[in-house]
Amino acid sequence: MCGIMGYTGRDDCLGTIVNGLARLEYRGYDSAGVAVISPDAEITIHKKAGKLANLRDTLPEGGVAGTCGIGHTRWATHGVPNDVNAHPHLDPTGTLAVIHNGIIENYEQIKSELRERRGAVFTSDTDTEVIAHLVAALYEGSLPAAVRAATKRFEGQFAFAVVDIRQPDVIVAAKRSAPMILGHLEDGSMLSSDVAGLIEHTREVEALLDDQIAILTPEGITVTDLDGAASEGHRYTVDWDVEAAEKQGYDTFMLKEIHEQPQAVSDTLLGRVDADGRIVLDQLDFDPALLRATDKIYVVACGTSYHAGMVSKYAIEHWARIGVEVEFASEFRYRDPILTRSTLVVAISQSGETADTIAAAEYAKAQGARVVAVTNIVGSTLARTADATVYTRAGLEVAVASTKAFTTQIIALSVLALFLAQERREMFAEECRDMLDRMEALPALMHQVLEQEEHIAELARRWADAQYVMFIGRQVGLPLALEGALKLKEISYIHAEGFASGEMKHGPIALIDEGGPVIALATEGHVKSKVVSNIQEVRARGAQVLLVATEGDTEVKAHADHVIYVPDVHELLYPVLTVLPLQLIGYHMAVELGRDVDQPRNLAKTVTVE
Ligand code: M6R
Repeated sequence: MCGIMGYTGRDDCLGTIVNGLARLEYRGYDSAGVAVISPDAEITIHKKAGKLANLRDTLPEGGVAGTCGIGHTRWATHGVPNDVNAHPHLDPTGTLAVIHNGIIENYEQIKSELRERRGAVFTSDTDTEVIAHLVAALYEGSLPAAVRAATKRFEGQFAFAVVDIRQPDVIVAAKRSAPMILGHLEDGSMLSSDVAGLIEHTREVEALLDDQIAILTPEGITVTDLDGAASEGHRYTVDWDVEAAEKQGYDTFMLKEIHEQPQAVSDTLLGRVDADGRIVLDQLDFDPALLRATDKIYVVACGTSYHAGMVSKYAIEHWARIGVEVEFASEFRYRDPILTRSTLVVAISQSGETADTIAAAEYAKAQGARVVAVTNIVGSTLARTADATVYTRAGLEVAVASTKAFTTQIIALSVLALFLAQERREMFAEECRDMLDRMEALPALMHQVLEQEEHIAELARRWADAQYVMFIGRQVGLPLALEGALKLKEISYIHAEGFASGEMKHGPIALIDEGGPVIALATEGHVKSKVVSNIQEVRARGAQVLLVATEGDTEVKAHADHVIYVPDVHELLYPVLTVLPLQLIGYHMAVELGRDVDQPRNLAKTVTVE
């Protein structure tokens, strides 16, 4: 959720912090703020509700002098997004300042104690202010010691950073179940809630682990546990560079990321076959006997990743012949699922930092199941939690609306399905290889679909004043219908729903009125004729229908007002193609309505709270 930045070194810190916040703004954009320790050891705070641009407008023209500081972009949890609730927050004497991501669950209790014992007065509605007050109350000459003591008191999922005028070139950070990444520079130290904030300065990073404290000085970074014993985070090299964090000529990150999909899919397929033509997943080294003994798979994920998980159910069940249940990660651990050593849990998360998905993976492990993470971020919490990881190679995804994460997840999950089929001897190696060859042909076919962007945009613009849009499909078309609706609603704010087309007559068809837009997935496959019947039912009730169909299918035209064609592929691979027009429809409808496509209202890219 919120974006965190910190820098201490030889140079003025403000520019570095604000530039880093710009790269992190997709994590939250309700308000932004900075705290800089000035050369005369004063804390200067600037903060403002709204986007980072509002903060930039309030900063003094000549900048703020000081080589140690912290900055924040907020996604509000406690308290409305206004200037007062914006971070950083100060302790009562203005000696230290805090920025924070996540939730301190017992903040009300600590607040009451501080009120009773110290007469504390709180000026904001945030849980963050409690951190500032408690660290100040526990300070006995050492900021790291005070942060350690305070962290022991906190419950919840959080990451925070503190600066203090008594140690003017030091930043102290702590974390539990929320990301905090450290950047070791030649001439200074940095921290950020995401590698995107550090990438301009270094690719050598260290992820702070739960209940560790980092002490950043211009000379370097020290990590300890909560008792002060020396410790170490997880060090790794980031495999993308600053270019990935730029728009590179596109109007928005979302449009750039839509067009990056063929490359991302191709990258995700690299190196998945060994010299003998067998599928390999080098980060998944389970005993083959265990894979053969697997009798149940749970797929857990949220949002778009959940839809990719739904697609994978068809592939895993069809190819590997194992029963799959797909669950919202936020529900999974609250319903007592049956998990054994023979259960495989596949946890999907682009960011690898989604709190619910991590909690579901931890729960599954604790119950004895084996967990495979499918994630885009090397070194992420989910990757470290899981027993094995299959990486997507989408590169940095900045837009809040996931696009290339989705297609690369489908590819990684399809490779996983084939790997399971091979290891369980449900498919011959040649059959797996043949399917992989078909997947390798997808990037070129994706380009063909993306080349139709202008035609798709024109259709989208016509519907931009729609009150609602329905998406319908069957089999792998169902998760696509859900994903198409999610994309449209999250960036355009038009009410959109996805339905199994066979379910329409059991209720949702009542919503159809004259001219009401319905987008249907009717590509070739064993359920196509069923979808066509369902389309006729909605058209008979006045719906205007846009079909996504297979190239060469001229008959289907008779049942639609508009058709977008995608190339013919294996039935289970269609989602990688059919999602492209859906993404472009959502995108162009939102642009037509003047929406902020990359940073839609009320959302944040990485959801690190439950
Ligand atoms: O990082 P994750 O894949 O775990 O994120 C899960 C969802 O928050 C995410 O897929 C969200 O639904 C999309 N950004 C929506 O486009």
